[in-house]
Amino acid sequence: MDGAEPAPTPLIWITTPDNYDPHVQEQLKREGAERVDLLRAAGFDVRVVHSCDLVPAWNGRPRLLHGSGDLLAERAGFIVTSWTWDPGIARHLEAVVRTVRASDSVLLTDGTIDPDGLGTDKLAMYHHAASLGATVLPTVSVPFGRYARRALDAVRSELPEGAYVVKPRSMAMGFGVLKAETPQHLAATVDLLAPAGLGCLVQPHLPNTGDLRVYVHEGKAVAAQLRRPGEQAYLANISQGGSGSAYEPPEETAALSELLARSLDADYLCVDWLLAGDRPVFNEWMTVLAGYKDLAGAPRLRVEGALVDHIRRRLAAV
Ligand SMILES: Nc1ncnc2c1ncn2[C@@H]1O[C@H](COP(=O)(O)OP(=O)(O)O)[C@@H](O)[C@H]1O
Ligand SMILES: [Mg+2]
Repeated sequence: MDGAEPAPTPLIWITTPDNYDPHVQEQLKREGAERVDLLRAAGFDVRVVHSCDLVPAWNGRPRLLHGSGDLLAERAGFIVTSWTWDPGIARHLEAVVRTVRASDSVLLTDGTIDPDGLGTDKLAMYHHAASLGATVLPTVSVPFGRYARRALDAVRSELPEGAYVVKPRSMAMGFGVLKAETPQHLAATVDLLAPAGLGCLVQPHLPNTGDLRVYVHEGKAVAAQLRRPGEQAYLANISQGGSGSAYEPPEETAALSELLARSLDADYLCVDWLLAGDRPVFNEWMTVLAGYKDLAGAPRLRVEGALVDHIRRRLAAV
């Protein structure tokens, strides 16, 4: 039809409410609504779909069955929140992710090279960041089951004495990030982890003045946010009571964040650093799912603009 507006591009956000207590899920929905509103205002037809309602399939072509429909019937952008503490959910989300990748739709949460490794696994991130000259804490990965306590010998030989942080290799929002004050706390923690199959890392607890997130778009740091833990807390995650504010990143931190984004072929990358001493210490990175809730004013507009621009470009690329 002449003069008709082009149909808005479908953007499907796959979440897993089974990860959360229903009350927490309500809160996450309210927070996610801000992002959904931004993307709708930018012209995307956003739908939030629960992973439990999906059945990935192949029948002549990849299909993502949802009720009587197929979410892959027309080309769409997909955002998949893939962290979970449940191995069954993890396997299901893997099938969802692989089915979207096999289709002509775009998996927007894949924003780096080697997304299965470098997209979610903190251990893989440490290896990569260190190889590019970033400061990385000595880190021990906990072996499985009855061998888990062997991590304690490695901690003694590889990590300095003091408090430790134990954290899952592939989670987010501060889930399961524990501070162990003594070797005995650490031993008990490792015992509790052994049957869980979560995959965890041990690092020294680094006394720090906050967590700096640098937002990199098209090779340039466009904004940064400093997050600080609340009173009597050690987690800077906003979802764990931390608070954030815009911050001018030191030149070296901005340059290192840009270097990491380039090395990962990432057009939009949010790089987190722990601030301590005179050099930033690398913590992790995230692509389109990284929050910016406490940013305001011009830095917020720059991050929102970068996110929308990044998604538009990814969807426009064939
Ligand atoms: N080695 C560490 N020393 C001190 N604080 C840490 C360390 N690792 C993590 N933290 C704190 O815990 C928070 C959550 O850890 P992080 O590795 O970012 O996991 P998540 O993916 O759950 O955000 C960080 O934002 C930081 O405040
Ligand atoms: Mg984090």
